[in-house]
Amino acid sequence: MREKLEKIREQALAQIAASDALEKLNEVRVNILGKKGELTAVLKSMKDVAPEERPKIGQMVNETREEIEKSLEAAMKKMERAVREAKMKAEVIDVTLPAKKNIIGHRHPCTIALEEVERIFVGMGYEVVEGPEVEKDYYNFEALNIPADHPAKDEQDTFYITGDILLRTQTSSTQIHEMEKGRLPIRMLAPGRVFRSDEVDATHSPSFHQVEGLVVDKNITFSDLKGTLAEYARELFGEETKVKFRPHHFPFTEPSAEMDVTCFKCGGNGCRFCKGSGWIEILGCGMVHPHVLEMSGIDSETYTGFAFGMGLERIALLKYEIDDMRLLYENDVRFLKQF
Ligand code: DAH
Repeated sequence: MREKLEKIREQALAQIAASDALEKLNEVRVNILGKKGELTAVLKSMKDVAPEERPKIGQMVNETREEIEKSLEAAMKKMERAVREAKMKAEVIDVTLPAKKNIIGHRHPCTIALEEVERIFVGMGYEVVEGPEVEKDYYNFEALNIPADHPAKDEQDTFYITGDILLRTQTSSTQIHEMEKGRLPIRMLAPGRVFRSDEVDATHSPSFHQVEGLVVDKNITFSDLKGTLAEYARELFGEETKVKFRPHHFPFTEPSAEMDVTCFKCGGNGCRFCKGSGWIEILGCGMVHPHVLEMSGIDSETYTGFAFGMGLERIALLKYEIDDMRLLYENDVRFLKQF
């Protein structure tokens, strides 16, 4: 019996020492200490041992069991630690590696310019509104004093959906929508996309953006228009900016003008940027034609108003000194992120 126990002990310890995986240790445990294990078998055969020998042998069995259990436990812990260490080594984080950068977009120069224009007018009490891009001929032309046979219709040829429905050529159509709401006074700024049947070149595109302004109230005069737009120019291009109004013709305003600003590059002396003139044209404007007010249901005896409209791309091109409008539509991030 003693030899048998001794043999079991030696074998178990040797097997434990030779185990290189937790599963193998488990196998050893089952084979020796398990229900059908070798040591359990010895216990079961105690009944064959002489009674006086039993306590001694019993003690030996217990000692052997304890020793094997301890050895198993130690081996298991050691192995678990080794597995954990290997895992940590494999998962090591190199804090010196440069972090992955999230590439986030950049606001488009037209968006930046629009936000600047909106900021200035909102500061003067204007409300920003939107009108539809698909428009009825009535809103785009007729109600703006451009009847079917008017030559202005040729200058603003556009894309027709039907004979009567078209892509708007100017944000001026928004003026009509605002006036038709019948809420007075009006102080609105209407930015948006417009369309014209134009070929693409450095200064033209079949789709571009305008910003429209309209004020309708009692006692609005041309000096309100002048003062407002002069202040706008100073805020946008700098305190020293001067403005000049040249008489012009728009069917929906009377009188009408185009506004020039002193060249912010040369201060008005003349340079390559302003083509030597010292002035740069930035918008069209005028007093709202009484007929336009009347067509939209506003009493032109009581109310007067002024309107203005400008190309947003033109403002962005001027502000950022970009010389080709096409660059604004290519959306090349290397270009866009400069602004
Ligand atoms: N709608 C005109 C255009 O596209 C610009 C314009 C001129 C708008 C005078 C106005 C204005 O409101 O008063 O050429």
